[in-house]
Amino acid sequence: LKLNIIIAESALELIPDELGSLPAVVNDSKRRSVEPARILLDRSIHHAAMRRLKDRFKRGRPDLVHITLLSITSTPLYLNGFVKVYIHTYDDMVLEIKETTRPPKNYFRFRSLIEKLLFEKVNNDLIKVYIASLSELLEMIRPDLIIGLSMQGEYENLENLVKKIITKKNPAILIGGFAHGHFLPNTLKVLDELIGIDEMPLDAHVVAARLVYELERRIRK
Ligand SMILES: C[S@@+](CC[C@H](N)C(=O)[O-])C[C@H]1O[C@@H](n2cnc3c(N)ncnc32)[C@H](O)[C@@H]1O
Repeated sequence: LKLNIIIAESALELIPDELGSLPAVVNDSKRRSVEPARILLDRSIHHAAMRRLKDRFKRGRPDLVHITLLSITSTPLYLNGFVKVYIHTYDDMVLEIKETTRPPKNYFRFRSLIEKLLFEKVNNDLIKVYIASLSELLEMIRPDLIIGLSMQGEYENLENLVKKIITKKNPAILIGGFAHGHFLPNTLKVLDELIGIDEMPLDAHVVAARLVYELERRIRK
């Protein structure tokens, strides 16, 4: 079994051109001495500039993508090579993380790494970066089952969900890498199933950690 976890439609992107000249962005760019096109869009810094941005509630949360990634990559399941993680972004870039790679825990180191990868689009030994929509990414992975996790999905407890994926060789699970909103219709189209694991909306990092732990327990049995 290799579980592909896709952190999908993630709120992780470089500052879009149209925001480049707005004061919140210009100030940050001066402070960091980095041009806007090389800076990650971050609501906590660029809030004022995002006021008119399309889908603004779904964008600019690199911090929560970082936490979600760590909640997967710090686990025995991941370190033993059972999980591969892909970060798919709002603007259809993909960061493919080589199995067992440990991303930086420090947020500022994570930020510089991702800014460099997204801007230069040059692979390093541990992370590949390329342009791909979710459906293109899934064509490459060729999963034998594709499950999206969402509040709006049919409720299923995690134990049953894990029973379903453990019989597969190359399943993919999508977790939304955003703080508000839901998967786009185009994303829903590529899923075999949409499943909710709790009646409450949970943070992506909690969903990821619970999924990984449940699978880990099942594999150890
Ligand atoms: C913070 S949520 C996004 C907000 C969205 N309003 C929601 O309630 O799902 C981030 C991601 O966590 C996952 N998620 C959150 N709550 C969930 C639940 N109860 N069941 C399954 N997945 C959930 C989904 O993949 C979602 O896209």
